[in-house]
Amino acid sequence: MPNLFAHQGYQGYVHTLTEKAEDYLEAILNVVIEKGYARTRDVAHELGVRPPSVVEMFQKLDAIGLVEYRRYEGVVLTPRGRQIAEVIKSRHDTLKQFFTLIQVPEEIAVKDACAMEHELSEESIGQIRYFIDFIDSSPARRELLREFQSFCKTSPGEKL
Ligand code: FE2
Repeated sequence: MPNLFAHQGYQGYVHTLTEKAEDYLEAILNVVIEKGYARTRDVAHELGVRPPSVVEMFQKLDAIGLVEYRRYEGVVLTPRGRQIAEVIKSRHDTLKQFFTLIQVPEEIAVKDACAMEHELSEESIGQIRYFIDFIDSSPARRELLREFQSFCKTSPGEKL
């Protein structure tokens, strides 16, 4: 059985997957949401990798019961694979939303969300989620955010 489990981890799972395996599950889910089914070439395109690498990972994920791989066709997520993919996707969406909220340009927000979605603790992600909801929960708080936006534009600041 391929070893795709890297470290102890998130709620409901005894193990967590390697970052690469998580990225694949997330990409498969994105393609499934868009097209209903994940073909090898679509996942390759989504991840910017070559189809043979995708087939290799499909076979590994199949061996641990997270996808069902059908040769020349592609994959479907098993219920457990889908559950993990949804956790990663929701972490990604929360982080992207947070970075966008604090004025990070979209392209960078997406890239950084992808880098952090694997590593942050549930506690930090949970607090970030609360923070987003908090800011969004009243006009006064949204106003504060607008003040922050103009602060970013006007303050010379110091960037590392
Ligand atoms: Fe991501």
